[in-house]
Amino acid sequence: MADLIGQLQSLAATARDAVAGAADERAIEELRVRFLGKKGELSAVLRGMGALAAEERPRVGEVANRVRDEVEALLAAARARLEDRKLEAELSGPPIDVTLPGRRLLPRGHRHPLTRAADEITAIFSRLGYEVASGPEIELDWYNFEALNIPADHPARDMQDTFYVEEGTLGPGARRGSVLLRTHTSPVQIRTMKRLGRPPVRVICPGRVYRSDYDQTHSPMFHQVEGLCVDEGITFADLKGTLAAFARAYFGPATRTRFRPSYFPFTEPSAEVDVSCSICGGSGQKSGGRCGTCKGTGWLEVLGAGLVHPRVLENGGIDPTRSTGFAFGMGVERLAMLKYGIDDLRLFFENDLRFLEQF
Ligand code: PHE
Repeated sequence: MADLIGQLQSLAATARDAVAGAADERAIEELRVRFLGKKGELSAVLRGMGALAAEERPRVGEVANRVRDEVEALLAAARARLEDRKLEAELSGPPIDVTLPGRRLLPRGHRHPLTRAADEITAIFSRLGYEVASGPEIELDWYNFEALNIPADHPARDMQDTFYVEEGTLGPGARRGSVLLRTHTSPVQIRTMKRLGRPPVRVICPGRVYRSDYDQTHSPMFHQVEGLCVDEGITFADLKGTLAAFARAYFGPATRTRFRPSYFPFTEPSAEVDVSCSICGGSGQKSGGRCGTCKGTGWLEVLGAGLVHPRVLENGGIDPTRSTGFAFGMGVERLAMLKYGIDDLRLFFENDLRFLEQF
């Protein structure tokens, strides 16, 4: 019996030294198999118990259990020590940089030049305190024409001939010819005034518009940005200052602006606005010859504008004896062509990547 107990005690002593020297997970696992495994040293000693007298067995069993518990505890402590050391190494090592950008596996794509131009125009007016408003592209005749002071037989309708929605596709209550694809973003003027109900109104409305035109400089679908500012005491000087500031921000600080008298049924007085040519700087001359972009005039026509007609304010639910306002509308295609030097409008709609990838 003493012999077996001695073997168990020396097994424990060996295990203590061995476990203390174990450097990694694998070494610890090997020691567990060596001491506690089925064919391990503890099992080998216990096999000797068969030769003991029955009353000696409990005593030896007790020592064997204690030795097994101790070896198990040694192994667990060794594992915990290793974990701690690993964690400490991680914490004291160089930090992980979680701000590294992702790896770019696909090219990022481009905003369409028209989207980019509309975004730039909108951003400039946002800085001047304008909000973005929108309206439907399928519009009622009343908003697109009637409320803008363009009655049914007005000749101005010829300049904006459009696409009408077929009678059969309309809901109940809609008259033939009463629903159409909007020809300009101006109906958003009426919708915005009615929505807000009172001044101040200061909105910018980018969007798609439609006309039955198709040639090198006209597409049946194109884009406009409308602007509307209504408040007490708004004058033509506010319109001039606002558009001059826009032109400088969009085309560059040296850009000059020129107003020419014009006519729109929904503004009075009305003007067509030119900016000094962004290509030749307004001289009309380019590398010894005539500037092709402004055809030698030094000026580019970029938008229509004017003071809001009193009847239009009224149709928007605003009292024209108390408030005045100005409105303007510009073509996004034209502004994008002038800024990016694009000479054919059709390029915008062909979706040719060789063109789109330049922006
Ligand atoms: N709606 C006009 C057009 O499409 C432009 C315009 C807007 C003119 C606002 C004056 C005021 O031609």
